Amino acid sequence: MQKKDSEGTLVAVMVDEESRAKQKAIQEDEKVIPTEPTPIWNVAHRGASGHAPEHTLEGYRMGGTMLGDFIEVDLQMTKDGVLVAMHDERVDRTTNGTGLVKDFTLKELKKLDAGSWFNDLYPEKAQPHYVGLTIPTLEEVIEEFGTDERYYIEIKEPGIYPGMEKELIRILEKYKLIGKDPKESHVLVQSFSPESLQKLHELNSIVPLVQLFTYYGDIGTITEEELREIDKYAIGIGANHNGIDEKYVRQVVDAGLMMHPYTVNTKEDMRKVINWGVTGMFTNFPDLLRDVLKEYEEAS
Ligand code: G3P
Ligand code: CA
Repeated sequence: MQKKDSEGTLVAVMVDEESRAKQKAIQEDEKVIPTEPTPIWNVAHRGASGHAPEHTLEGYRMGGTMLGDFIEVDLQMTKDGVLVAMHDERVDRTTNGTGLVKDFTLKELKKLDAGSWFNDLYPEKAQPHYVGLTIPTLEEVIEEFGTDERYYIEIKEPGIYPGMEKELIRILEKYKLIGKDPKESHVLVQSFSPESLQKLHELNSIVPLVQLFTYYGDIGTITEEELREIDKYAIGIGANHNGIDEKYVRQVVDAGLMMHPYTVNTKEDMRKVINWGVTGMFTNFPDLLRDVLKEYEEAS
């Protein structure tokens, strides 16, 4: 995926047929990917959610099989205070139930079918064993995939779940997933809420944090001062790939922060953000990213 120039600096190389013209430009430009020694991280967004029901053990397992470096887990909290893997505040889209997660006890939530919706929506990808899949708790995910796996956890809706940060840190400490060096840590925690991230740091000063942003309309911009502020508590930034550009990515990476765009689902977009210099990305198709990274590797 990368090669070293005469000074030992990592440079990006394009390989693919359809991007041959781009390849030439990049080689001429010798763009530096300032990620050494960290490779470009392949984050299985909600699991391999382009292939299997999101936030189920099946989806997470597939993410690992497809060589995802991280399982991404969004968190909501039940009425009885249990952290569960779920993207939405409501159960309606991804289960056969209706209502807010916060109004369900874990026992009630476990009765819901979290797989059939996927078969209905994507008949071409449907599998009989997806029927009846249940919503996993965070602890069940960790127990299933172990402490050698890497988890990229998102605190969702911290405003409606008091105590969510404390419970998360309790679990991460229990399983000894937190490492000071983000390259070694078995967990990163991301949130759109800087307040929630700060709260996490008050509870555990070394848990590696990622600040999320969404940019609509115009391409997002970020000032040097904002980057300095983020650098005080976070090791990286996540942002929607269609809301940022190369300048944004370069600024973030040059500030010493990781840059992880979401949710990058086509090979074309994967190559685009790699060439911008990202240090990883979220994708529903970790198999596609695996193939793109292989192209780069073979060209190095
Ligand atoms: O965490 C990056 C990305 O997952 C944020 O978007 O809505 O898919 O959680 P969302
Ligand atoms: Ca997420």
